[in-house]
Amino acid sequence: MANLDHYWLPFTPNRLFKKDPRLLVRAEGMYFWNDRGEQLLDGVSGLFCCALGHGRPEILEAVTRQYGALDFGTPFQYSHPGTFELAGMLADITPGDLNRFFFTCSGSESVDTAMKIALLYHRVRGEGQRQRFVSRERSYHGVNMAGVSLSGMVKNRECFGAGLPGVVHMRHTWLEENRFTPGQGEHGADLADDLQRFADLYGGDTIAACFVEPIAGSTGILVPPRGYLERLRQICDRHGILLVFDEVITGFGRTGKPFASQTFGVVPDLITVAKALTNGTVPMGAVAIREAIYQEITGSAPEVGIEFFHGYTYSGHPLACAAGIATQTIYREEGIFERSAELAPFFQERVFGLREIPVIRDIRGFGLLAGIDLEPGEGFGQRGYAALQRLYAAGLLVRVTADSVILAPALIAEREHVDRICDTLREVLSTL
Ligand SMILES: Cc1ncc(COP(=O)(O)O)c(C=O)c1O
Repeated sequence: MANLDHYWLPFTPNRLFKKDPRLLVRAEGMYFWNDRGEQLLDGVSGLFCCALGHGRPEILEAVTRQYGALDFGTPFQYSHPGTFELAGMLADITPGDLNRFFFTCSGSESVDTAMKIALLYHRVRGEGQRQRFVSRERSYHGVNMAGVSLSGMVKNRECFGAGLPGVVHMRHTWLEENRFTPGQGEHGADLADDLQRFADLYGGDTIAACFVEPIAGSTGILVPPRGYLERLRQICDRHGILLVFDEVITGFGRTGKPFASQTFGVVPDLITVAKALTNGTVPMGAVAIREAIYQEITGSAPEVGIEFFHGYTYSGHPLACAAGIATQTIYREEGIFERSAELAPFFQERVFGLREIPVIRDIRGFGLLAGIDLEPGEGFGQRGYAALQRLYAAGLLVRVTADSVILAPALIAEREHVDRICDTLREVLSTL
């Protein structure tokens, strides 16, 4: 085996990992294989990325062809046809008039880009005083310094300074009363009024944007209470605050429609995406922007002037665009989002069927997403880590945050995969 000393793994207990590494060497369809030749059912689409499962030949072919034709497309002052083609495909599936797209290389970059767009939009309209951001406890908005300021995950921020000034957090939406409720809980729409309270306290016209994940993913799948997102939208409209949905996890069919915005019937002003945009094959993110915001910003700059002093060397990289176009083509041609909607009730029923296992404290779920909270062990996240190890040994790959097990099977999963995920969970969690 390779020397494991030199690589520092992200979000991983490195010393433990190196004593007992989990090395993935091959993937196809719903499965990974590890370096010991063992098959693992992928219960979380890699990391919420591989909605089509692994190893789709169409994506391989598109990326290979693109590499042969144009391996890099200088992104500032130049471009290549793939950027426009992919943006056009995205415009066909995004809600409302969110039909302009800025490309990034990750979800974290999408979040930081969206924050800058919000600030710039207000500034060009003569409202440069809007510099505050509102986000929420238990949110994950990536790991770059601006996104970390929005983050509502203590561990992700506590060691990294005070963050951007002027960021305040609404309360999270986990409520005791909604425990073990499938889908949207009845209680908690009024938690959105935290935004109104901030508007009252700081002045609504000092707030640039409110960032939320429609379903908070990384902290254990917190589904929005009924009426909550609608109320956020109303409060934003009342005060001219931009509403930003971070759909890095929920984007591209996870909730049965292209975006959770459409599933919940609430149209934001900006949407951040990444992950399943390219089926996780080539790193790429994007920000979807309402037409009026794009027009306002571009219209305010002189004709020969750069409108947005922002961008990445790899914005709209040709290989990422090729992977994105191939992925979006499959989503459309194979009706993948509809398939996701069809499988979801079965998935939810099977996952909620685990509720009587003694170690399980709560289950939440929507679409092809579910979070299972375990009774905490002695140390922070200890029981969650034990679950991850035991599930891996039993042939199932999941995501664990602290003591929550998170499931997000590929949208191409069959019922038999869902059965196997839930049977393995029952077997392992019953003895944990
Ligand atoms: C909602 C949300 N936003 C942003 C990110 C950051 O994405 P990335 O890891 O690609 O930077 C994630 C990652 O899981 C996420 O779940």
